[in-house]
Amino acid sequence: MQVEKREAGLIPQHYRNWQGRPEWFFNREHTDTYEQWYEGRYKRAEVWQKKVMEQLVSKDKRVKTLLEFGCGTTRFTRWWKEIGIEATGGDLSPLMLGQAIHLFDGDLVLADSHHMPFKDHSFDTLAFITTFEYYKDPVKVIREAARVAKHGIAMGMMNRNSTKVVRRRVQELFGANPFYLTATFYSPAKLTAIIDEALKGRNYSIEWTCTGLPKWFPVQQWSLPLGDFFGLYIKLEDEQHL
Ligand SMILES: C[S@@+](CC[C@H](N)C(=O)[O-])C[C@H]1O[C@@H](n2cnc3c(N)ncnc32)[C@H](O)[C@@H]1O
Repeated sequence: MQVEKREAGLIPQHYRNWQGRPEWFFNREHTDTYEQWYEGRYKRAEVWQKKVMEQLVSKDKRVKTLLEFGCGTTRFTRWWKEIGIEATGGDLSPLMLGQAIHLFDGDLVLADSHHMPFKDHSFDTLAFITTFEYYKDPVKVIREAARVAKHGIAMGMMNRNSTKVVRRRVQELFGANPFYLTATFYSPAKLTAIIDEALKGRNYSIEWTCTGLPKWFPVQQWSLPLGDFFGLYIKLEDEQHL
């Protein structure tokens, strides 16, 4: 009897797509090494990203619980408790969540940020860290976040106004960087315009700050829209809907 040959890969090629395109977070070659990447030369950037997010979120004293969507392996999700916030994670990728479950002791949900399986105002704030770049309908995701959140939405992402964006696009041309192939990069101004469209009729304020500046630079954080990463906080001020 002839034994049928099976593909050796753990996940067949056609399951590695999302929205009709190959996606790194559905490919174990990339997801299984994700945490190592943070431990390497990305470490300094991570420290500053957390500082920036802490400054923005901890100003809103109402925030005690947080739902982080696009939580990945929970690099940030498991950190929020260091600043006194109880976090829950959600992500679309079973491969990222397969690691998250061993690294994070809170609750996790497998779901798409465009359709959050939670009731209105379930958490004090929603958070998105380097995940918003992958969303097909950013207006819908912000509306979903404003539905599930009570007080605010925290966002941290790669800045479009950065020389690294050009470097990444060149690397992609040579097949060297699979991580941002499907990503849309935002600047604080571009993201603010999307938020304004999504939250028309709501009362809110926005604060943002940038980091990800070169090591030799005299400051590592500032309020100019330049740098590899920016954090932004939407403070929802119309509590009458709660
Ligand atoms: C660059 S990783 C960021 C992970 C984590 N937030 C961090 O900072 O390390 C992007 C994550 O977004 C998730 N993601 C992409 N599109 C998503 C969607 N529509 N809904 C939920 N998660 C999504 C991916 O699975 C991946 O884990």
